[in-house]
Amino acid sequence: MAHRFHPSVIGPEAWEGYTFSDQEIRIKESTDLYGAVLWPSAMVLCHFLETNRDRYNLADKNVIELGAGTGLVTIVSSMLGAKVTSTDLPDVLGNLRYNVMRNTRDHCKYTPVVTELTWGPDVKQRFPRATHSFDYILAADVVYSHPYLQELMDTFDFLCQDNTLILWAMRFRLDPENSFVDRFKVRFHLEELYDLPSLSIKLYRAWRRDKKTQTTTDDRCL
Ligand SMILES: C[S@@+](CC[C@H](N)C(=O)[O-])C[C@H]1O[C@@H](n2cnc3c(N)ncnc32)[C@H](O)[C@@H]1O
Repeated sequence: MAHRFHPSVIGPEAWEGYTFSDQEIRIKESTDLYGAVLWPSAMVLCHFLETNRDRYNLADKNVIELGAGTGLVTIVSSMLGAKVTSTDLPDVLGNLRYNVMRNTRDHCKYTPVVTELTWGPDVKQRFPRATHSFDYILAADVVYSHPYLQELMDTFDFLCQDNTLILWAMRFRLDPENSFVDRFKVRFHLEELYDLPSLSIKLYRAWRRDKKTQTTTDDRCL
């Protein structure tokens, strides 16, 4: 996935440009919030999805993205044919919705849904298991030194059902991140797909440890 930065010469809008399957993606950033900046982990996850599209076939799959930020992962997943629910905190949704709609309109089979999800107990009301089930949970750079790491863990736990695969790009910065990974391994089987030391980023796939059934979908036959 090619990437260029386009500074604004006249108008107020500078943007990051990506090329995905010959299609240009424009991402608008803002500097005031974590979620309004595009982080390198998102590009790593998008690169993986683009270059492994046969093995991890997102076409017609139900996908949820946690902490979608500026929306690149949601956009690329939608272009790959997924039915994406893109979530983040309320303050981030305006910019996220703008980027997602601008880049997916008329280019994707399914229109992505952009909606609020604050990690923690809210997830049960917003995505009850009786009516929602996801084939994939995607997350890029959602683990850092914020006070909601337990809520994030519980959100993964609630959304991840027996046939759900988590694809998670993780940027390592401080100790809390390492201990999150250790605690994550108690609930989920975790496998490293990429290790990029120069970026301090790892890409993982994960699924429930206590999963009852085997599946032949994608690469999940264990
Ligand atoms: C470092 S940014 C990563 C954004 C995007 N995934 C990327 O890689 O460019 C972390 C994201 O997690 C979201 N986030 C942080 N705390 C959250 C919470 N308690 N509930 C939901 N989202 C949260 C932020 O709003 C932000 O979009």
